[in-house]
Amino acid sequence: MSKMISGFSKLTKEEKINWLATNYFTDQTEIISTIKKYWNSDELLQQLHDDFIENTISNFYLPYGVAPNFLINNTSYTIPMVIEESSVVAAASLVAKFWSTRGGFKAEVLSTTKIGQVHFMYDGDKSELIQYFNSKKELFKIATASITKNMEKRGGGILDIQLIDKTEKLPNYYQIHVTFETVDSMGANFINSCLEAIAKEFRSDAVEIVMSILSNYVPECLVRAEVSCTIEELGGKNPQQFAKKFHQAVQIASVEPHRAVTHNKGIMNGIDAVVLATGNDFRAIEAGVHAYASRSGHYTSLTHCEITNGIFRFWIEVPLAVGTVGGLTSLHPLAKLSLGMLQQPSAKELMMIMATAGLAQNFAALRALTTKGIQHGHMKMHLMNILNQLGANDQEKTVIANYFEGKTVTHSAVVDKFEEIRNTK
Ligand code: MEV
Repeated sequence: MSKMISGFSKLTKEEKINWLATNYFTDQTEIISTIKKYWNSDELLQQLHDDFIENTISNFYLPYGVAPNFLINNTSYTIPMVIEESSVVAAASLVAKFWSTRGGFKAEVLSTTKIGQVHFMYDGDKSELIQYFNSKKELFKIATASITKNMEKRGGGILDIQLIDKTEKLPNYYQIHVTFETVDSMGANFINSCLEAIAKEFRSDAVEIVMSILSNYVPECLVRAEVSCTIEELGGKNPQQFAKKFHQAVQIASVEPHRAVTHNKGIMNGIDAVVLATGNDFRAIEAGVHAYASRSGHYTSLTHCEITNGIFRFWIEVPLAVGTVGGLTSLHPLAKLSLGMLQQPSAKELMMIMATAGLAQNFAALRALTTKGIQHGHMKMHLMNILNQLGANDQEKTVIANYFEGKTVTHSAVVDKFEEIRNTK
């Protein structure tokens, strides 16, 4: 049977599922049952999720966890995190508690502006283009007035509009480079609407508009979070040795891209989990963060460490264009729940919370890597996944979890223990 189909989006949900089951699976009953098992019994809620995208056939669950005891600028937070990786929430909670007794996290927003561009081609005289652009500047304001009106009331809007010559990079290529303040919204729709209105106003026989779109590279939407304490306060058997190795680990990530990517991936474990929990756009965040990490032309660490006069300081600087109003933040009931848990933060507060989650995650990873190694904690947390895969019952899970207390967890050791218990029954 041909697997090509036209008019798929017009089929009902049931018809779509049946088509998939018939064309791609042998056990159709089982596959249909799996798809429907994840439907929500609340029809209105299911409809809400169905309508987020096209061709929805089911829901894909991820765990929603919380990490309490985060002290950020002397305010305590319980941070919601959506993530499938076993150890992330546990690590965040441990590190939050650790730093809460050492002054907590200090965070500040360094800048909040965002960029959008109208990309166009022009092969005439440059001075004439400049003159034409200047003659349009006031008209851009009029063309965007209906879009910017509400944003201006909230303290945002268009901050600057510039003509940029890019012809050295690509013949005839120019941009209208627009700077925005979008306050508490991520602002993608606002920015794109303004850009399209500007492009419409600017278009002429000589100006060929190619496209108008926001940029997810937001180095001017930057937040910083930091922890510090005396080396002695770091505790443990040998705090001097710990601080030294930790510092070396950050230095390695700052000079070695292979390590930096993994180092930053660990940071994103924390940031993305909060981005998802609050209904923000994790692809935009990821793209912007990694571009920022490469801004010198060399991919490097997002965190930094300094030890001076017996003080250990560890901080992150990261661009995070997020919103706390609009988009999914107000549509998805769990995103609303997350923002409620965070006490309805402004976008700036949310930036600080996310940067803190990233810093905490990096602290946890580097502490584990430079001491016990990462697998100890990871495998301990992964134990339940292995047991679930093996189909262990509650009693077997308890016996096996107790058995592995203080022992190294490996996949084969868990399988051996599981089989031993089953076979002795
Ligand atoms: C795993 O998800 C994240 C780590 O690899 C981060 C790191 O190596 O720093 C543990």
